[in-house]
Amino acid sequence: MKIELDYTPFPKQAAFHRSPAKFKLYSGGFGSGKTTALAYEALLYALEYPGTTGMIARQSYRELMDTTMKEFFDICPPELIRNFNKSNYHLTLWNGSIILFRNLDNLQKRRGTNLGWIAIDELSEVSESMWLELQGRLRQKNSPRKMFACTNPNGHSWVWTRWIRDAAKNKDYHIVQSATQDNPYLPADYVQSLIDNYPEPWVKRYVFGSWDAAAGIIYEELDYDKHIIKPFPIPPSWTRLRGMDYGYTNPTAVVWLAIDPDTGKVYAYDEHYAAKLTVSQHKTVVHAKTGHARIQVTAADPSMWRAADGDGRSIADEFMSGKERLPLIKANNSVAWGINKVKELLQHDRLYIFKTMENLVSEIQDYRYQDIPVHRDVNAPERPVKKDDHGCDALRYGCSYIIEHNLAPTSFADHRRSDDPKTQLAESTRRMNERSGLLLPESYYEAIESDADEEW
Ligand SMILES: Nc1ncnc2c1ncn2[C@@H]1O[C@H](COP(=O)(O)OP(=O)(O)OP(=O)(O)O)[C@@H](O)[C@H]1O
Ligand SMILES: [Mg+2]
Repeated sequence: MKIELDYTPFPKQAAFHRSPAKFKLYSGGFGSGKTTALAYEALLYALEYPGTTGMIARQSYRELMDTTMKEFFDICPPELIRNFNKSNYHLTLWNGSIILFRNLDNLQKRRGTNLGWIAIDELSEVSESMWLELQGRLRQKNSPRKMFACTNPNGHSWVWTRWIRDAAKNKDYHIVQSATQDNPYLPADYVQSLIDNYPEPWVKRYVFGSWDAAAGIIYEELDYDKHIIKPFPIPPSWTRLRGMDYGYTNPTAVVWLAIDPDTGKVYAYDEHYAAKLTVSQHKTVVHAKTGHARIQVTAADPSMWRAADGDGRSIADEFMSGKERLPLIKANNSVAWGINKVKELLQHDRLYIFKTMENLVSEIQDYRYQDIPVHRDVNAPERPVKKDDHGCDALRYGCSYIIEHNLAPTSFADHRRSDDPKTQLAESTRRMNERSGLLLPESYYEAIESDADEEW
């Protein structure tokens, strides 16, 4: 019986199939033909080496079922299949080859069958230790003993290190990099709609398949050398406030902020970061750290106002009562808006963080958006990963307050730097008015400037 595979690989897929490397990888953007190439490569091994056992794997069970396995059955001609055991996902072909479908998140370690080849879909989801563990299973005689995989790029991860950074040293490793537009079988407007709907770093990674695009980093504007600074004493006259995120099992984070009245620049200068303390313990630490400094406001996580079960008092009530009472106000919890404001502050070099704030410094560098699942609605909003984000939340609450209440106006700061006396006069008037809470339209100050023109 002659069976023809209905498959014409496009050039990138063909390059992947041709590669003789022991560990080959096909990376690329969404829909760049990765799973298709992986499934055909697996089928070709199963056919070329009759009687071998191979494994098609993916990190999670759900995605193994919904995409990888489904796509394999889409491309595998039914005439080749002798039996598929649905209880253990064991596929037997007529030539005696066996293909096991396995999810790696509960794969039994150090046990299991000898394998002749292993195919991994979305390798970036898999840990390096699992990758090494699996190599130990390539023990079947008369088999190719190769592993191959495909993946979306995910920044400078272990996958990047092995296949790209150390490529010259690792002769066994070979990568074929593709982009979404390399796949000629996609609908014509698919690529353009991705480009139009997503932010640039995302497009670089998920469309153009770049490994250099930061993998979902939220504060890309943060430049360690510039924004993470050596501490200095905060002058007593500066406005200070705190941002607070509350947790019991997770840490409670408090971030102290100060605003330079001359430049409008914001400095995060101290932090409190601790889990499993009682509210009164937190209050003691916060007061001790604050010392005699006057704090204008503490902008706190609005969920602290949810009444706890029992006596109906909330965590916020507990903070705001008792001996060491600590007044709080509900922070603006619009996440996307707040993140944008912090990004803008960083972008314009108006936010600095003291190096001594170890928790915030480490969190903010690794603060990421959740990975956007393949084929998700392209218009759905991005969300940060909810892990190790407590200091980032506290910072965001504080900065949101600063922006909403215009505590760090740049227009003022920019004018102040002016040598022009007429601008200085308009600005000192503006400062007086703002201090007394009088907000006047811009035209008022423009008028002063032009009057002053005649005088000077
Ligand atoms: N050589 C080919 N011939 C015909 N169709 C193909 C070929 N390669 C890929 N396709 C089709 O293109 C679409 C995307 O391919 P595939 O699912 O393999 O991409 P992917 O990179 O795995 O995508 P994702 O990023 O969603 O995981 C699928 O509909 C697939 O059937
Ligand atoms: Mg895929």
